[in-house]
Amino acid sequence: MAPSKLLVLQDTRWLSHNVLVGLVVLALSTLLTIVFYRVALHPLSAFPGPISAALSSKWLYRICSTTFPEDVLKDLHKKYYTKALRIAPNEIHISDPSIYKIIYSQTAPYEKPDSFYQCFNNPHSLTSETDQSLHRERRRLLNPYFSKKAVGDLSPLVWSKIEKLENKLRNFKGPLDAYDAVRCLTVEVITKFCFGIDVDLIDENQVSFEANFLDTFDAASHTIVDMVFAPTFNRLKFIMPMPILTRIDKEIANLLRLGETSCMKESLRIASPVPGRLPRIVPKGKAPLIVDGKVIPSGVRQQTIVGMSAYAMHRDENIWGQDAYEFKPERWLDGADKSLDQFLCPFSKGLRSCIGQKFVSPVS
Ligand code: HEM
Repeated sequence: MAPSKLLVLQDTRWLSHNVLVGLVVLALSTLLTIVFYRVALHPLSAFPGPISAALSSKWLYRICSTTFPEDVLKDLHKKYYTKALRIAPNEIHISDPSIYKIIYSQTAPYEKPDSFYQCFNNPHSLTSETDQSLHRERRRLLNPYFSKKAVGDLSPLVWSKIEKLENKLRNFKGPLDAYDAVRCLTVEVITKFCFGIDVDLIDENQVSFEANFLDTFDAASHTIVDMVFAPTFNRLKFIMPMPILTRIDKEIANLLRLGETSCMKESLRIASPVPGRLPRIVPKGKAPLIVDGKVIPSGVRQQTIVGMSAYAMHRDENIWGQDAYEFKPERWLDGADKSLDQFLCPFSKGLRSCIGQKFVSPVS
């Protein structure tokens, strides 16, 4: 090769090597700047939490996809001795029951963030609508269908579905999956009510309560934990005299004596179907949100997200006592502490609370 060509080639190699080094240095210094900003300068840097949570939301993603996050968060609140735990660069998890009614308020609720509610891929549905005026309009139109009277008018539908289930149960041989049986029942009721469609889940499979819809629902939803309903108990109560039931199973008899309201409330407390945090945006220009004596600032470039969970509310030992983890319907008996009701929030509270909660009347 001619010497001049060799020189040009060496020059180009030298240049591309230097560009590469420059790019690596730039990437590293950008990364270090971001790390330093998020850990030391970010408006939420004063709030304790795992360092990897402050660095990136990957930590939260990992916790949510591989564990039951509410247990992990509860332990971390203890470990860092804080009611306001930083769980992502711009997100704080709060564990302070006195704050619940501020965030999920009836008159001025914190807004829902797009970043969370868009993932349901159901834009403008009542649950995922983040624009408050559109939500207000939609809720106003739907409210009449969920009033106590409207739900009461559904009794014949509900009873006809219960009878359908009862017929199948009478002829059923061998063990059965009661959880799936109850799910077939509730999905049949709700799809008929909402869409006017008769989906025949109860009888879809003659020898079990397996149904395609339930499989699809389970596959799509990793966050909804087991629901504990007691319709079977209610049915038993009507058909079995108490003295006989007491002989067969003293524990169930005691449970039934406690009454359906107490059992239902305690079931919803201990096994909330929606146990997780419900993220909301810290508003700008409103009364400051103070937790643990520190103001949680609304974001400047990025929104600050806060969230509380039914799980943390329902297991706070300062409220429920040392037996917070135990199923004890007697907490709700007449004469028990009425103030407990304010801390029971399986349907959330305020303006964005569950529109369907009157289906479970004792709690609404
Ligand atoms: C035990 C049963 C149920 C539980 C525990 C429950 C729980 C909840 C919770 C916690 C929320 C608040 C979600 C959030 O803030 O993002 C909610 C909202 C909602 N729920 Fe339920 N729900 C139940 C049954 C139902 C039923 C039967 C229906 C309808 C047939 C329903 C319809 C809705 C709707 C439309 C919203 C959104 C309300 C709004 O944003 O204005 N839910 N539910």
